[in-house]
Amino acid sequence: MDRNRHFLSIADWTPARLREALDLADRLKADPDAAGRPLAGKTLAMVFTKSSTRTRVSFEVGTHQLGGQALFLSSRDIQIGRGEPIADTARVLSRYVDGVMIRTFAQEDVEGLARHGTVPVINGLTDLLHPCQIMADLQTVRAEFGADLSGLVVAWIGDGNNVANSWLNAAAQLGFRVRLACPEGYDPDPAVFAAAEAAGVVELVRAPADAAEGAHVVTTDVWASMGQEEEAAERARAFDGYHVDAGIMARGADDAIFLHCLPAHRGEEVAAEVIDGPASRVWAEAENRLHAQKAILTMLMGTIS
Ligand code: CP
Ligand code: NVA
Repeated sequence: MDRNRHFLSIADWTPARLREALDLADRLKADPDAAGRPLAGKTLAMVFTKSSTRTRVSFEVGTHQLGGQALFLSSRDIQIGRGEPIADTARVLSRYVDGVMIRTFAQEDVEGLARHGTVPVINGLTDLLHPCQIMADLQTVRAEFGADLSGLVVAWIGDGNNVANSWLNAAAQLGFRVRLACPEGYDPDPAVFAAAEAAGVVELVRAPADAAEGAHVVTTDVWASMGQEEEAAERARAFDGYHVDAGIMARGADDAIFLHCLPAHRGEEVAAEVIDGPASRVWAEAENRLHAQKAILTMLMGTIS
């Protein structure tokens, strides 16, 4: 499988290809029509087995802006939800559509879709990764600190989850540093962490204040991700103290910004004074999902005319 034909993980794309996508995302932000209509006559299937606001709407609107059409396919309605194998779904969808975006639980299902289908597959979030989110986050960070990310320090406070894992992949590819503060038992994926460690770009600490020290970006996510609802009470206890508040932001660099992929829980992982305060860039970050994904759609599905 040619992993450049898909966007399954940030780790699959070279630094040059990631930068090409981010540069195109910037051009599309400045001019939404900068790429023309590269998806004219094309269809993106969007398979969701988890909820979404931003991913669904930004992919649907982005595909439309690029001249194509998007199909929203909830697992509640299609046969995947009744157990049709992912391989069969991949073979069939490939005969109708020009690309598939999928949000689901197992990374292996996204990989299987790419392996068994013949069209590009985009990972719209799994339990392991959230690569599209980090492309939008990188676009937001570049707007603030410039395109050379080499001196950047990103502080991740909280759960070593899918978003954290994709931050680590991005750091390994692009050469900035991530300092994570996770409670014991909630560290990032071991293989993703090992790759970032081998690249010399990661440090794991336990105290949020230590992670935030001098950081340019302070970021966090919910304590319980989708699919972990039953662990919510246990997680609330484990993550007590893992809040981003004004005190944590004050530890960061003078021009530090706050990011959150959203949805956010004010009063839990982030204080309202931070997410609704002057350092917050979360609305630009959410907007950038549209631009970054249009760049990815253009690169994977676009017809060069
Ligand atoms: N950040 C993000 O992926 O949001 P949604 O779950 O609303 O798509
Ligand atoms: N970590 C969160 C991200 C939501 C966009 C989740 O997986 O639910």
